[in-house]
Amino acid sequence: MIIPDPLLDALRGCSRPVVMTGAGISAESGIPTFRDAGTGLWARFRPEDLATPQAFDADPELVWNWYQWRREQLSEVSPNAGHRALVELGRHKPLLTLVTQNVDGLHQAAGSKQVIELHGSIVKTICHKTGKPVDERFVRQSGEVPPRSPHHPDGLCRPAVVWFGEALPAGALNQAMDAARRCDLFLSVGTSSVVEPAASLALMAGDAGACVVEINPAETPLTQLADFALKGPAGSVLPKLVEALKHGSDPNR
Ligand code: OAD
Repeated sequence: MIIPDPLLDALRGCSRPVVMTGAGISAESGIPTFRDAGTGLWARFRPEDLATPQAFDADPELVWNWYQWRREQLSEVSPNAGHRALVELGRHKPLLTLVTQNVDGLHQAAGSKQVIELHGSIVKTICHKTGKPVDERFVRQSGEVPPRSPHHPDGLCRPAVVWFGEALPAGALNQAMDAARRCDLFLSVGTSSVVEPAASLALMAGDAGACVVEINPAETPLTQLADFALKGPAGSVLPKLVEALKHGSDPNR
């Protein structure tokens, strides 16, 4: 893939970039996406049975175990070249804001600091009644499925993720929207751009005059609206982009 010169100019010239990632950036680490045909989680499971407060109320054991299964998958994977390229990008652009819809913690594992997690974190636990964080040692030591909450007599522990029908953490969403409105370049990586409000961040940035770039092997609702769409896997395209930024030109030319 050749990186167009105007994109390189925009990348070199930007000082306040925002990168927003989705499940696609973790696909090359071996974590399934949600909507890819056949392999996506929502192609194999019904979100309404597993990722809503109603599902948890109806069958807390099933929902807890499903998230435990996903947590166990995470213990076997590590960040990939795409996550690492974003750490490198942050070294070149110290004002970079990294926003993710992912709950897997792989950006932090790669070394990215101050990641805005729009949909929470699967490696953390909260009380379903109060929303208060629950210590992981307490979760590990409890023999119950799911563990009873230490914060409320009628509460259960649940994963600290945002479920369908729930509000996003207000602080994270406000920070992400502020960054999107103020950025000079918005890079959308590995997201199908269909889940709101995350999908609107790129449009907000574009409306405010930022250069909008998409990295995704497939077409999404953002593709036609973006200034540049780089069709390919994040694990190869992102390192190329960062190399080109470092060398001042696309090293493949
Ligand atoms: P999706 O599964 O909807 O989309 C994943 C995107 O990644 C698709 O557009 C793929 O084409 C793309 N993709 C696949 N492999 C890739 C690769 N190697 N490099 C780059 N892109 C690749 O996942 P999200 O957009 O993250 O929310 O989904 C958004 C939200 O919907 C998730 O956070 C989750 C889900 O339901 C909640 O659970 C609240």
